[in-house]
Amino acid sequence: MKYLKIIGQEKISGEVKISGAKNAALPLIAATILAKNTIKIGNMPDVVDTNTFFKLLNNLGSTSKREKNTVTINTFDIKETKATYDIVKTMRASILVLGPLLARFGHCEVSLPGGCAIGQRPVDLHLKALEAMGASIEIKNGYIEAKCEKGLQGANIVFDKVTVGGTENTIMAAALAKGKSKIINAAKEPEIVQLCEVLKDAGLEIKGIGSSELTIIGTNKELLNFKDFDIIPDRIEAGTYLCAGAIANAKLTLTNVIPKHLSAVLAKLEEMNFKITKDKNSLTIYPTSFIKPANIITSEYPGFPTDMQAQFMALATQAQGTSVFDERLFENRYMHVSELVRMGADIHLNGNIASIHGKPGTLSATDVMATDLRASSALVLAALVAKGETNIHRIYHLDRGYEDLEGKLKLLGANVSRHNE
Ligand code: UD1
Repeated sequence: MKYLKIIGQEKISGEVKISGAKNAALPLIAATILAKNTIKIGNMPDVVDTNTFFKLLNNLGSTSKREKNTVTINTFDIKETKATYDIVKTMRASILVLGPLLARFGHCEVSLPGGCAIGQRPVDLHLKALEAMGASIEIKNGYIEAKCEKGLQGANIVFDKVTVGGTENTIMAAALAKGKSKIINAAKEPEIVQLCEVLKDAGLEIKGIGSSELTIIGTNKELLNFKDFDIIPDRIEAGTYLCAGAIANAKLTLTNVIPKHLSAVLAKLEEMNFKITKDKNSLTIYPTSFIKPANIITSEYPGFPTDMQAQFMALATQAQGTSVFDERLFENRYMHVSELVRMGADIHLNGNIASIHGKPGTLSATDVMATDLRASSALVLAALVAKGETNIHRIYHLDRGYEDLEGKLKLLGANVSRHNE
C-alpha cells in the first residue's frame, strides 16, 4: 500500500489546471450504453473511478481506448448485462449502469452496493423509480435483478428525497422508455445538467434541464446518436485547491473552472475573509490577514456541497473562533474529525453537528489514515500547514477522485511525495 508524505509549511503559489469532473464522468460513461455510435469523450479525468467504470463496461462487452484525457468508447457490442460484485464493491457508482442496461436490454443484474464509510447509502429510490416505469425488481443473493421484457414505460416519478444517482439512473432509463416521463424533485447538480445536455444533443427530447422537474420523451428502445463531448471541470477538485490556497495563505490561480458551479463555496470563502477574483474560466484566491470562522450546512446543489465539508473543516481549524458545521446529507461523514484531532485540532461532535474551535498555527504533523475520498483531501490540506512531516495512509481513496494530486501540489511548491508502506 502507498502513503503520501507531506512536509508542512512550505510556501505554495502559482497556477493549477482543474481536471474533468469525476462525478460528471461516471454517469456519462454509463450513458454511453444508450448509444448506437462510437463516442470520443474529452477532459476525462484519469482517476481510478473512471478507469474502473470503463473496466466495468468492457467486462460487459464494450470497447474503449484511453489516450491521456481522451477516451473513445463503443458500447454497441455489449451482450452481458451483469455488473458483478468484484467491481461494484470497489465503486458504488456502478449502480449507474442499472437504468441504462435495463432500458436497453429489458433485463440486468447489478450487485447491490453495500454501505460505505460515510453512511448506509441505500438505493431504494433508484429501484422505486424503475418500478414506476414497469420494471419488476427482486433482490437475490446480493444482486438487484431487474426485468422488463416488454420495455420500460414512461411514468411520473416523484422523488421522496433529492438523489443525484437516483435522478441520473431515472433519466437514463426514461431515455429509452416508451412515452413521456416526468421526474419531480430531481437533483439539479451541474453533473446532472451535463448528462441531460449530452442526451439532448444525442437527439433525446428533454425539457426542464437544470430545474427540479424534468420531462423526457423516451425513444421506445431506439438507441441514441451521441455527439463527441468534453467532461465539465470538477467543481469539487476546484474547491479543494481553493481551500489549499486558503489554508496555506497563498495566492493560487485555478484554470479550467466554471465559477458559477462554485457559487456556494466561493461565498463561504468570502465569508471567511478571502478575496477571490473570477474570470470566465479561472479563479484566483488571495492570502488574508486572518480567517473568520463560518457556519456551514450541507445541502443539495446549489447549496453548500457535502463533498466540500471535510476540506472546509480543515480550513476552519485555522480560523480565529468557532465554526459550526451541520452535515445533513450523510449520517457518518465526519470520519476525518478524529484524524484532524490527532493533528491537534479542537473539534467537538454532537450527532451531525461539529463545532470547530479554530486557532491558527496549532496543527502538528503525525501519521493519519484516509477513510474516504473527501476526508482524505482534508488531511492533505491540514498537512500543508502542519508543522513537520505528515504521513497519510490508505491514499487509494485519494486516487479514486483526484487526478495527479502530488504532481499538481508539487508544481505549486508543496513538499509531497508518495511512498510504499
Ligand atoms: C452523489 C455523489 C457524491 C455526493 C452525493 C451528494 C457521485 C458519483 N457521487 O452520490 O459524491 O456526496 O451525490 O451530493 O456523483 N438516498 C436514499 N435512497 C436512495 C438514494 C439516496 O435514501 O435510493 C439518500 C442517501 O443515503 C443520501 C442522500 O439520499 O443521504 C443523497 O444521496 P445521493 O444524492 O443519491 O448521493 P449519490 O448519488 O450516491
